[in-house]
Amino acid sequence: MKLADYKATIAFSNGAPSFEMPVYNGSIGPDVIDIRKLYGQTGLFTYDPGFLSTASCESAITYIDGDKGELLYRGYPIEQLATNCDFMETCHLLLKGELPNTKQKADFSHLVTNHTMVNEQMHFFLRGFRRDAHPMAVMTGLVGALSAFYHDSTDINNPEHREIAAIRLIAKMPTLVSMAYKYSIGQPFMYPRNDLSYAGNFLRMMFGNPCEDYVVNPVLERALDRIFILHADHEQNASTSTVRLCGSSGTNPFAAIAAGVACLWGPAHGGANEACLNMLEQLQAQGGVAKVGEFMDQVKDKNSGVKLMGFGHRVYKNYDPRATLMQETCNEVLKELGLENDPLFKLAKAVEKIALEDDYFVQRKLYPNVDFYSGIVQRAIGIPVNMFTGIFALARTVGWIAQLNEMIADPEYKIGRPRQLFTGSPRRDVKDINKR
Ligand code: CMC
Repeated sequence: MKLADYKATIAFSNGAPSFEMPVYNGSIGPDVIDIRKLYGQTGLFTYDPGFLSTASCESAITYIDGDKGELLYRGYPIEQLATNCDFMETCHLLLKGELPNTKQKADFSHLVTNHTMVNEQMHFFLRGFRRDAHPMAVMTGLVGALSAFYHDSTDINNPEHREIAAIRLIAKMPTLVSMAYKYSIGQPFMYPRNDLSYAGNFLRMMFGNPCEDYVVNPVLERALDRIFILHADHEQNASTSTVRLCGSSGTNPFAAIAAGVACLWGPAHGGANEACLNMLEQLQAQGGVAKVGEFMDQVKDKNSGVKLMGFGHRVYKNYDPRATLMQETCNEVLKELGLENDPLFKLAKAVEKIALEDDYFVQRKLYPNVDFYSGIVQRAIGIPVNMFTGIFALARTVGWIAQLNEMIADPEYKIGRPRQLFTGSPRRDVKDINKR
């Protein structure tokens, strides 16, 4: 049990005795009030739907300063990681706590590379899906099914099982995502190639075919690698909290990550990149830049139900640092592909400019988030819109598993079991059906 850094006292206006609670300092960021004994000693629960003020765990992995627009993985700013490191180094950092040296990086990459193939039976499992199934429906099924194929790494309480499950998940996600894509377009699956980088291998599995060699474009490879780095972790977001909650029951790592994939699918979370691109395409079809003003009026009208997708964030009340990096990558990719005049990119810039100057967005501190530009990059690379969230899931897998493993290794972890404020009927008796 931690020692209190200082104390907080809660007083009640109904004459009940006040209650003292320990407060702990974080290394950076807000301190937390430990309310664990509150119910036992006062009979009260706290009420915080959506976890607006609740730290659900202790973590040393990722830190976000939403006001500054700062994102740190294990203390390193995302800008430095995205510029000086690749995704394998980032995975090593998130999982093991430190950036690898040259030998550690080679060993880690070798380990991941040697687990990229999936059990051949997975192909038959995938074939049970409709060809037009949404890739996230397929991914939820495929990731959950891994536990049926890798029985030797399903004991979450065994550190060796956790370690090998982590490597398997990171290694196999690109293979599974590209299999889901190939299946949807009726092309043969491409087996992984171990001489390619993580991102290069994924590009080949997505866009190569067995009839000819696929040459990886280094600009697109780097862009994809950066997308992976930017999405690798984001502290206790909805899908990560889902993974933790699911894993807290002691279920196996594959099942817990499948729960994260399912949560990520929602349009308020990972599904926002798909929703954002659909929004831009729709706006383009309705008249493009000339119609931005009209569209913004709809966004600002609470009764319209229209949101500006790719804008706003629960934690960032400043520019999402990932959005700045994504915009940079977007420029590079469009230039490389000769798409500088891409109308959707121009439209996105026009929307962003208007939103950043509009009082509605300024007052609510709504800025572009990572999804605002990531869809344009992925679309330019040739990735279909409905695959975007699958790629987010691929990249976030390392964060999910690092957070899951951190939780299991924490001696203070318990099964997650929130309480409730009950507002339904008190006890009543069932009447005979003819008298109801
Ligand atoms: N467009 C229009 N209004 C918005 C938007 C938006 N995108 N986002 C927030 N608002 C308004 C909201 O209506 C509310 O206004 P009011 O105070 O007048 O009621 C105010 O801003 C605060 O919003 P909130 O809904 O209380 O904020 P939240 O923290 O609960 O929601 C969010 C955060 C990300 C769900 C929300 O901003 C949103 O739906 N954005 C669009 C979806 C999106 O881009 N999601 C990706 C998030 S980043 C990637 C990831 O982590 O998965």
